Amino acid sequence: MNQIMNKAEGDINCTSARTEWLESLPEKTIKKIKEDADSFLHQALSTPCMEVLEECDGPYIMTSSGRKILDFHGNNIHQVGYRNKQVIDAVIAMLTKLPFSPRRYTNQAAIELAQRLTTKVPGLNSVLFAPGGSEANSMALKLARIATGKFKVVSMWGAFHGAGLDTISVGGEASFRKNIGPLLSGTEHVPQPDSYRSFWENDKEQDIYVAYVRQVFECEGDVGAFIAETIRNTDVQIPTLNFWQKIRALCDEFGVVLILDEIPIAIGRTGRFFAFEHYGIVPDIVTIGKGLGGGVFPMAALLTNDKFNIAAEHSVGHFTHEKSPLGSAAGLAVLDIIEEQHLLQRTQQLGELMKKRLLEMKDRFEMIGDVRGIGLLWGIDLVTDRITKNRAADEAEKVLYDCIKNGLSFKVSLGNVINLCPALIISEPELNRALDILENAFRKFIH
Ligand SMILES: Cc1ncc(COP(=O)(O)O)c(C=O)c1O
Repeated sequence: MNQIMNKAEGDINCTSARTEWLESLPEKTIKKIKEDADSFLHQALSTPCMEVLEECDGPYIMTSSGRKILDFHGNNIHQVGYRNKQVIDAVIAMLTKLPFSPRRYTNQAAIELAQRLTTKVPGLNSVLFAPGGSEANSMALKLARIATGKFKVVSMWGAFHGAGLDTISVGGEASFRKNIGPLLSGTEHVPQPDSYRSFWENDKEQDIYVAYVRQVFECEGDVGAFIAETIRNTDVQIPTLNFWQKIRALCDEFGVVLILDEIPIAIGRTGRFFAFEHYGIVPDIVTIGKGLGGGVFPMAALLTNDKFNIAAEHSVGHFTHEKSPLGSAAGLAVLDIIEEQHLLQRTQQLGELMKKRLLEMKDRFEMIGDVRGIGLLWGIDLVTDRITKNRAADEAEKVLYDCIKNGLSFKVSLGNVINLCPALIISEPELNRALDILENAFRKFIH
């Protein structure tokens, strides 16, 4: 398996390329970025910021230095695009009527959103809302403990499940875990499956991996939950049908609650409402978030089966903004837009376009080691050569900054994986333009 090198998503913000980029910005923008750095506590992946935003609209962000950029990152919240009128109208209508719903009361919008989410997939018919993805995963971990009476959790190295102390304990990224003191006990990590296609094409390697997970379940003896992303968002790892079916069967055999974290990839990103629908399995718990709040309100949820309605004595999630009428109004608008604009089918169609163009680029450029994707989530590995598959991190950075200058933003994961995640409402010409910008940057910086 390839070693995940000591570069995580976003740590490119302290390289010389970032400094050069910052120096190229207009004086007033540099001043604002400095004010930001002076005001906020510095933390990894955040400071110094890249630019100052003035507006966002549809698939675009607009910066104070006058750039209009197709945003292929969007923190995965922009399924229906930024500032979507239907979402904004719904939120404004709610703002003028019921901006908040205190605990012990409910409201029509929250009930309706819960009802609509729980009818998406048979078996996932109970819901809890939370103000963020990390909190939704916390609730899932707690519920699994209560349901099984077992507190141990198996998760993957390299995974991200949120920035809370419990979620970094099941997460597997050094920038969150190092030098922070004791983490949650009872967390066992298994390796991240390989990021190169050969792993997913090789049944034998997958069987070895599943056998390893089995051994962890057996030897720990009292594992309560297995948590993972169905499809890993950052470096776009797409397991095979077999893989998830085998893990599902293993969890059933050992009485382990299967928690699928779909916070960045549910709600249509892969061309299905939930990514697990591609695999013919249903998890015991799925967590969603990000785009659920329409890019306006922090809104997340766990969905599970009502057989887990067993925690009435516990406060599983006790959040001030739990049944937010604003978040629920935004969520309902998102569900309407997805249905009315047939965004799932559209995502599948535009995904085919992306696939065709990216595979053509792979044929043209030796330094593209792999192209992986589904729906409108694609990853491109830049490698020094296809034999060693060493990560071409410098080139990835050059490509990134060239693209931003020319109107396309995206995230680089693990130093060399270009992650492309456009708004699902993007038009075909806009998508082609973004891919032209990317291809031009490839022509300049890779061979
Ligand atoms: C896979 C995954 N899980 C959990 C989270 C945490 O979500 P939030 O930032 O809303 O707490 C994220 C956020 O990026 C994520 O990508």
